[in-house]
Amino acid sequence: MKTRSLVTIADMSKEKIMYLLEMAHEFEKNTNRKILEGKVVATLFFEPSTRTRLSFETAANRLGARVIGFADPKITSGTKGETLKDTIMMVSNYADIICMRHYLEGAARYASEVAPIPIVNAGDGANQHPSQTLLDLYTIYQTQGTLENLNIYMVGDLKYGRTVHSLLLAMRHFNPTFHFIAPDELKMPEEYKEYCEQQGIKYKEHKEFNSEIIKDADILYMTRVQKERFTDLMEYERVKDVYILKKEMLKDTKDNMKILHPLPRVNEIAYDVDEDPKAYYFQQAKNGLYARQAIICDCLGLTIDDVKNDSTILK
Ligand code: CP
Repeated sequence: MKTRSLVTIADMSKEKIMYLLEMAHEFEKNTNRKILEGKVVATLFFEPSTRTRLSFETAANRLGARVIGFADPKITSGTKGETLKDTIMMVSNYADIICMRHYLEGAARYASEVAPIPIVNAGDGANQHPSQTLLDLYTIYQTQGTLENLNIYMVGDLKYGRTVHSLLLAMRHFNPTFHFIAPDELKMPEEYKEYCEQQGIKYKEHKEFNSEIIKDADILYMTRVQKERFTDLMEYERVKDVYILKKEMLKDTKDNMKILHPLPRVNEIAYDVDEDPKAYYFQQAKNGLYARQAIICDCLGLTIDDVKNDSTILK
C-alpha cells in the first residue's frame, strides 16, 4: 500500500532530510502545538525501548494527538498466534499512523506494504532505525553547524547496531570520512562497506580504541554491544567491554568534537565523561522529541508551513 511511511533513511533525498531538520527546528522553538488534534498515533513495540517509544508518545501528546499501543507484546493477541499482518490491519482501523519497533529485519517494510496508514520504523532488528538517524543528524548539525565533510568515528558494535547502519546511509549525501572502530566479531558488515565504496565514501577500519586514534574526530559515535542479537552468549561475554571511553582519552581531541550515543549505555562510556562538555548524548536524546514530531507530521501530510502557520501554539 502506498502511504507516506518512513521505513529506511536510504529512501530519503538530501533535500528531504534538510526539510525535516528544519521542521524539527520549528518544534524545538515551540514543542507544544495542537496541530494533530483529533489524530490517533499507535505505538507498537515488539521489542523493549525507553527513548524511542516515550519520545514518539511525547511528540504525539504535545501536538494534541492521542496515543494507543503497547510496550510489551506479551499482553497482545500475538501470543494467541495472531500474525503481524492481522495486527497491523486491526490497528489501522483505530489509528492514523503506526510507529512500530520489531525484532525482525524487514518487519517495518512488510507492515508498510500491507497497512492502509503510514508506518514509521522505530527499529527493525539489526537493520535500520531511521527516526534515530534523523535525531542524530539534527544533533550533528546543531553541534557542528554543518553536516558536510565531517570525520565520523563509529565505535563498538558495528555489526548489530542498527543506528550506525542508518546513519551511514544518511551521511552519503554529506561527504563524510568514516572511521569504523570494532573488534573482528563486531565489524561493520561487508554490505555497508561495499555501499561506501559504491558511493565514494571514504572509510578506515581500526581495532584499537585510544586517544591517538580518535584525535581527528568531529563526532565520536559510541554504541552498546547488542546482547539481544547474540546467539552465543559466551561470545557476548568476550566482547561486551571491549571498548570503554574514559575521560583521559578526550584531552587531545578537537575542540568541536562531540560524543554521541543512541543510548542505552551499558559500560562503554565511563560515568565521569558525562561531566565533560564534549559529552552530548543526553541532549541528543532530547532532540528525539523534535525529530519525531517532524516525522509524525510529515507522514500525516502536514507541511512545514502548516507548522509555522499554526495558531494553536501553547505557551
Ligand atoms: N536509542 C534507542 O533506540 O533507545 P531505546 O531502545 O531506549 O528506544
